[in-house]
Amino acid sequence: MHIVHIAVELAPIAKVGGLGDVVTSLSRAVQDLNHNVDIVLPKYDCLNLSNVKDFHYKKNYFWGGTEIKVWHGTVEGLSVYFLEPQNGLFHTGCVYGCGNDEERFGFFCHAALEFLLQNGFHPDILHCHDWSSAPVAWLFKEQYINYGLSKARVVFTIHNLEFGAHFIGKAMAHTDKATTVSPTYSMEVAGNSAVAPHIYNFHGIINGIDPDIWDPYNDTFIPVSYTSENVVEGKRAAKEALQQRLGLKRSDLPLLGVISRLTHQKGIHLIKHAIWRTLERGGQVVLLGSAPDPSIQNDFENLANELHSIHNDRARLCLSYDEPLSHLIYAGADFIIVPSIFEPCGLTQLIAMRYGSIPVVRKTGGLYDTVFDIDHDKGRAQAQGLQPNGFNFEGADAAGVDYALNRAISAWYDRRDWLNSLCETVMDQDWSWNRPALDYLELYHSAHKSG
Ligand code: ADP
Ligand code: GLC
Repeated sequence: MHIVHIAVELAPIAKVGGLGDVVTSLSRAVQDLNHNVDIVLPKYDCLNLSNVKDFHYKKNYFWGGTEIKVWHGTVEGLSVYFLEPQNGLFHTGCVYGCGNDEERFGFFCHAALEFLLQNGFHPDILHCHDWSSAPVAWLFKEQYINYGLSKARVVFTIHNLEFGAHFIGKAMAHTDKATTVSPTYSMEVAGNSAVAPHIYNFHGIINGIDPDIWDPYNDTFIPVSYTSENVVEGKRAAKEALQQRLGLKRSDLPLLGVISRLTHQKGIHLIKHAIWRTLERGGQVVLLGSAPDPSIQNDFENLANELHSIHNDRARLCLSYDEPLSHLIYAGADFIIVPSIFEPCGLTQLIAMRYGSIPVVRKTGGLYDTVFDIDHDKGRAQAQGLQPNGFNFEGADAAGVDYALNRAISAWYDRRDWLNSLCETVMDQDWSWNRPALDYLELYHSAHKSG
């Protein structure tokens, strides 16, 4: 099959969150199964071009009253076409947040279809993502289906219904197949007015992570390579390196990591509570987070100052986006907490497990589907062919966090050998795209069979 993703994020060159990770890693998994994948992306002026191989100018075309330059390059082994309209829409220094994002991405979607048409592409699948490439669905069905692209079927994936639900509903009305990124989230949003009319055609497929990109055996950002066989040594070295790098006390304490966009979705008040509870129980905390909302950023800066004066050797809040540091935290932490209010899938709990860190999560969306509590979820885990792999909680309040976090920290103090064997267990679980990529391929095929 030939699959073309039309997307506005792509890890690691234009990543804002998990959407960027998924476009790259799903594409790589499908390509590894011997299918042909291309990606069309805006050529932002803020692209990280050092991660693009063989980057070169290809051609230009005129559409929408402007010249559009087309570039091509290889990102993580994937063929990527970069569209650069000369009207300045993507010369803004950012991926999102320009005030006219609807206009920017609407233009991009239309320009991408025009590019595919003018250049003789005949994809089997056009795969678009979230509100930002939702227009592909209806533009294709309304304006392009009768031309050279007629063979294509449209698959639309919802990564987060919080943004642009109107666009998402409109896209679903025009797509051959719609998915979201976990089975539980698909049920949680089934009643949403954007989704409800199309529910018959809606599939929840859990995300995976790319085991080559997130690989503690082969990671230049951590001091010692490790697998589940030497996880204790590997994580001890990573914890020491993390403590040294951030100027924390270098002793073996239970270390809680948080790696997150700092937004309402991620449970801001629960993150703060978890920080205080961990410190109270003698542990260390490292938070890496960036807040698009200046008032939340300000709030965390104040908290960082407060912690600096009381717990300078045991807490560090790094309020930035820092990919290399994220790797060291995944490896050096004992626990990664993800106390989201809602979470369509969540990748941080999966990456944490790949690095032998135990997830502590709220039971919602993809967190519910991937983290099975060691005290309560044996049956649910076994139904998936898995062992329990973490700690979870229900309520979006301090008592909820305490219930899971206290058990985790107590296990660190009282049952260290057992906890070490849990690290091995979680590292050996397969949260890659092996299975979900097959589910997507089945869906791509069924899109063709059904119409
Ligand atoms: P979302 O897409 O809702 O932000 P996900 O869990 O799906 O949440 O994906 C988050 C991705 O972004 C993960 O790859 C995580 O490691 C990364 N990430 C989040 N915040 C930061 C940060 N401040 N610095 C580096 N990476 C981050
Ligand atoms: C969104 C969701 C997150 C999901 C990611 C990738 O950003 O918030 O839960 O993991 O998309 O699908």
